[in-house]
Amino acid sequence: MKSSYMPKIACIGAGNVGATAAQYCLEMELGNVVLTDIVEGLPQGKALDMTEAGPIRNYGATCIGTNEYKDIEGADVVIVTAGLPRKPGMTRLDLLEKNGTIISGICEQIARYAPDSVVILVTNPLDVMVYLAYTKLGFSANRVVGMAGCLDSARMRSFVAMELNVSMKNVDTMVLGSHGDTMVPLPHYTTVSGIPITQLLSQARIDAIIARTRAGGGEIVSLLKTGSAYYAPAAGAARMAQAILRNERQLLPCAALLQGEYGLKNIYVGVPCVLGANGVEKILELDLSKEEQSALQRSAEEVQEGIDGLRQIGLL
Ligand code: APR
Repeated sequence: MKSSYMPKIACIGAGNVGATAAQYCLEMELGNVVLTDIVEGLPQGKALDMTEAGPIRNYGATCIGTNEYKDIEGADVVIVTAGLPRKPGMTRLDLLEKNGTIISGICEQIARYAPDSVVILVTNPLDVMVYLAYTKLGFSANRVVGMAGCLDSARMRSFVAMELNVSMKNVDTMVLGSHGDTMVPLPHYTTVSGIPITQLLSQARIDAIIARTRAGGGEIVSLLKTGSAYYAPAAGAARMAQAILRNERQLLPCAALLQGEYGLKNIYVGVPCVLGANGVEKILELDLSKEEQSALQRSAEEVQEGIDGLRQIGLL
């Protein structure tokens, strides 16, 4: 990317997560934003509203809303949040079919109009949808990445900071595995200004924080009653976009394609990744305890079941 170049970010899906991600990208001055949705008027209205916030919030990038995929042409980063949440009465397979069909259609358009982009998937079930996107896009795996670990580890960081009454900025952590009940939070890689939390908290409190992190999405759903989390998921996606667009080489947990790392093959799950201009520049292999390694294996098995489900319904 040339230094004077204003990057282009396409946000596909102008719902809660997509529009909030667009807003963060504008506020962070990451580039010009194109907000896309199938609902007529929705992306246009939100984009105009965000444009009108610019003079007050002091950002200069443009934001346009559209129902036309051709407007994402040449995007450097594409953030995909389009999809449906699981509704009462819907089975896991129903959701796979609905969101899988949406993601497949969108990937065709991304491959056509933004063939050089790095694609950040957010739609759930995340690890399965990002695998589907990878197969449909035909991009190299480093340019197709899923947002989950950033969110899960941000939740855990918040809970540790609340527990110890310290700044969230001092807390670092790493959460591996799939974005769901089987995620693998790593307490011995969780520190407060370099001090492992195992020295600051009892095992019982650490276990409670891990349980709350695993159930973090559900906790928000039960409070909101009619929707799911969007500020933190959108913040995770924008954080990843920043690392890519500014070639920061940030070490972040992301869903990446594993080809032998952690003993897993041809599957997307959350692992520590160095994110830079080429997307996933590197996957780090941490030393895991036997329990953590088998928890990661279980997590991968759950993702594999989802991938098998996609095959069953003919989407793969
Ligand atoms: N192309 C573009 N947009 C689409 C398409 C499509 N083919 N199909 C659906 N959408 C749009 C919907 O019109 C809606 O505006 O996706 C948007 C989804 O927005 P919300 O329903 O508000 O959902 P949101 O809370 O943003 O979550 C989106 O992110 O975190 C995940 O689990 C969450 O999978 C969900 C996704």
